[in-house]
Amino acid sequence: MITLRNEIRDLLAIMLSKADVALILDYLNRKPIFQSRDVFETWSDDSMQLGDRRFYRNQDESGNSIYFYGIKDVDETVEFLKYIDYPDDEAVTLIEDSLFFFLYYNLSLKKDPEISDYFNTLIKKSDIGEEWIMPSRSSSVLSRSDIIQGFIDRFEYKSYLEVGLARLENFNKIRCKNKVGIDPAKNDFNKCNLSQREKIDLFHQKSDDFFRENNEMYDIIFIDGFHEHQQCRRDVENSLKFLNTSGTIIMHDLNPGHFISQKFPPKSNGDVWKTFAELRTTRQELEMFTICTDQGVGVIRRGDQTIYADPDFELSYEYFDKNRVKLMNMISIKDFLEMMEMSSSD
Ligand SMILES: C[S@@+](CC[C@H](N)C(=O)[O-])C[C@H]1O[C@@H](n2cnc3c(N)ncnc32)[C@H](O)[C@@H]1O
Repeated sequence: MITLRNEIRDLLAIMLSKADVALILDYLNRKPIFQSRDVFETWSDDSMQLGDRRFYRNQDESGNSIYFYGIKDVDETVEFLKYIDYPDDEAVTLIEDSLFFFLYYNLSLKKDPEISDYFNTLIKKSDIGEEWIMPSRSSSVLSRSDIIQGFIDRFEYKSYLEVGLARLENFNKIRCKNKVGIDPAKNDFNKCNLSQREKIDLFHQKSDDFFRENNEMYDIIFIDGFHEHQQCRRDVENSLKFLNTSGTIIMHDLNPGHFISQKFPPKSNGDVWKTFAELRTTRQELEMFTICTDQGVGVIRRGDQTIYADPDFELSYEYFDKNRVKLMNMISIKDFLEMMEMSSSD
């Protein structure tokens, strides 16, 4: 069963009758997006950990791998599992985002003070300007933090740099020997979880200034600062200069669900997808893919890629929307799990 995020459900309840909401949910549920493990008679205990998530593997009738994620309780029974496959998880997010923006923009909700207040609680004013804080992404099976931690654990990375910290939601989750974070906003760095086993440095700086003065190399760099194409391009170019040979760059917000969410000034994702798209069309010496989860999580490593070549290529949302899978080299969560399993057996 699909359960929409509370915020969306509340909005739908304000705007539509209960019968309409039931109809929409019925429609969405006709396509089974999540299945429970009960569909299998036998169950394998084959599993792997990525960040906070544990993924269990089973096989369908044709012998193909199927992954579930779950949390084992004290009795070692799997209490909560969801079936993962492309593009279903992201489809839920896209449906929710589309509904959210549709309601916000097309129904002139701003004119209604009560609803306008409600939306304002979702907008955070920072030193840099207004920034959308989207409702929590509970439908994301695999988060950016799980992916980053997965790389750190698999490749035994020792140094981590995060560009853009906000409330340190991700930074605090990451476990790595040396952690460096930068953010020019007057964020409360006191919220940083200190650990005796980690060396942590935080800088109130813009990324351009930080990189100008920096002379350290990093194993993994997470770029999630100012969500604007040109700034993001500088962040990637600078990160490549300070990335160890077998290092990894992770980018966030590469798969906006709606043209409004990628508009600049940034609503939620901004137009950082353009930076990634440009590199896909020009940089053969990089390996690049986007994992279709948590707003689109990009991975850049030194390697070899077939560059994306299309004479009609243009940096417009319309083009992106039609060609996003190939342009961004989008892979499913399942593809990514398989890739990580292969890298650990190397
Ligand atoms: C989307 S939030 C970061 C979220 C965080 N990485 C996470 O995953 O929880 C973006 C942050 O980037 C910061 N920022 C804006 N411009 C920046 C810049 N030029 N350099 C570094 N950080 C910047 C903002 O202040 C904001 O806190």
